[in-house]
Amino acid sequence: MSSYDLVVIGTGPGGYVCAIRAAQLGMKVAVVEKNPTFGGTCLNVGCIPSKALLHASERFEEAAHMLPKMGVGVGTPTLDLAALMKFKDDGVDGNVKGVGYLFKKNKIETFTGLGRIIGTGKVEVKGADGKTETLETKNIVIATGSDVAKLKGVEIDEARIVSSTGALKLDKVPENLVVIGAGVIGLELGSVWRRLGAKVTVVEFLDRIIPGMDGEIAKSFQRILEKQGFAFKLGSKVTGVDSSGKTLKVQVEPVAGGNGETLEADVVLVATGRVPYTDGLGLKEAGVELDQRGRIKTDAHLSTNVKGIYAIGDVIAGPMLAHKAEDEGVAVAETLVGQAGHTNYDVIPSVIYTFPEVASVGKTEEELKQAGVVYNVGKFPFTANGRTKVNQTTDGFVKILADAKTDRVLGAHIIGAEAGEMIHECAVLMEFGGAAEDLARTCHAHPTRSEAVKEAAMAVAKRAIHM
Ligand code: FAD
Ligand code: NAI
Repeated sequence: MSSYDLVVIGTGPGGYVCAIRAAQLGMKVAVVEKNPTFGGTCLNVGCIPSKALLHASERFEEAAHMLPKMGVGVGTPTLDLAALMKFKDDGVDGNVKGVGYLFKKNKIETFTGLGRIIGTGKVEVKGADGKTETLETKNIVIATGSDVAKLKGVEIDEARIVSSTGALKLDKVPENLVVIGAGVIGLELGSVWRRLGAKVTVVEFLDRIIPGMDGEIAKSFQRILEKQGFAFKLGSKVTGVDSSGKTLKVQVEPVAGGNGETLEADVVLVATGRVPYTDGLGLKEAGVELDQRGRIKTDAHLSTNVKGIYAIGDVIAGPMLAHKAEDEGVAVAETLVGQAGHTNYDVIPSVIYTFPEVASVGKTEEELKQAGVVYNVGKFPFTANGRTKVNQTTDGFVKILADAKTDRVLGAHIIGAEAGEMIHECAVLMEFGGAAEDLARTCHAHPTRSEAVKEAAMAVAKRAIHM
């Protein structure tokens, strides 16, 4: 029987990063992965393929609408969807192989099969051929991620009624796409297919889009998306999808009650959230506690209630984001060798990779109000930024929220082109407990979009220059 210091179950961003950090710190490490490729949801059917499609479809739209404005004649762009999908698949392939290379480089042993905890310090690996082997280990990290949340009355077949996984590999651009859920997946993948030619209608249960993001940003985002052609049915729920005919019939009802309607669609994307994945892990037998939402319960050190078993990433509480899983992976590995492993949950950026992008870190205005915190707001629109003006990408604004007494930045929210890159200076500032004045006094290169961040910080003290 092989014996290890650490066995990690799952090789998504949480699991593979944890394994690498543990190996760097001198531990003997093995990983167990049930899929034929490494990288989990993020690399195979999540972050990476979706960003490839977003990148390519953005170029497609740019070629049609933006390049002619700049005097660049490319004619009417044509779409070879199979080639676009190959572009995506090649990108995914490169990334998952990269993880395999890093495992080898760090002398991490890999096992393909379903991992199950069969006792203290024992993980059974069951291969596709049904054969099992047992790994002995001092510590176990569960990094088994999440799966698509099911919706009553809507049966996903990954052909016409799809989850994000099916929406990443449609073989035809749907004429009508109905998206259920105006969250991150719905708006990112809705954007992909709208840019490629679909008419997209988003049905959202709440009376707003992207719940959890700053309300003012969400309103502005909705207006921009509507200008692009998105249709929204807010405060509405899908009660069923009839797939017996050539087109799908989607039954939609107002949440508040009243008359329903039927929408016709070629494809329906179910994007109503994800749930922790713990199937077949043997958690009940091992005595590992779950919370009421099926997430593995962990303490401040990411330890479960069972000694020697830790859990990280989507399978525990917190935002379901790849970088949150990665940071937890590093924290556990460092804790295991006696270091002060730590994840700062107050400074986890979040980005929606649409056009424009939406990026956020820290508290929203609604959260500050609810907590009774007195704060100042500094805002700066991209219409007043030299670089975005000359590039004609002026949609959006930067919003900085700072404590009224101390000026410490508590939240930063950006909607605009490349917001996902710009948010990180705010994250670094917040990690160091910086004030809006620190940001305002930091020299920013001209002409950059990031100058809008500096100006928003100056606006906290009502002294923005270009507004
Ligand atoms: P996962 O990546 O889900 O990995 C878990 C792994 O464990 C899987 O490989 C699974 O096969 C394996 N596994 C499960 N059970 C077992 C078992 N018993 N034995 C062996 N192996 C097992 N996040 C971002 O931060 N940015 C984005 O842009 C982004 N885009 C996304 C787009 C889409 C369409 C989706 C669906 C998600 C996206 N996410 C994004 C979320 C991100 O993918 C997850 O937060 C992240 O993958 C979580 O990492 P993880 O390591 O916890 O789990
Ligand atoms: P989500 O939680 O972001 O959004 C789900 C939306 O569906 C919410 O607006 C919710 O109100 C709505 N909803 C729920 N039930 C509904 C119903 N019955 N009818 C209509 N609307 C309903 O979940 P999503 O988009 O599925 O994404 C899952 C996870 O993946 C997210 O937690 C996100 O963090 C992660 N992700 C992150 C990305 C990024 O960082 N760029 C990209 C894609 C996914």
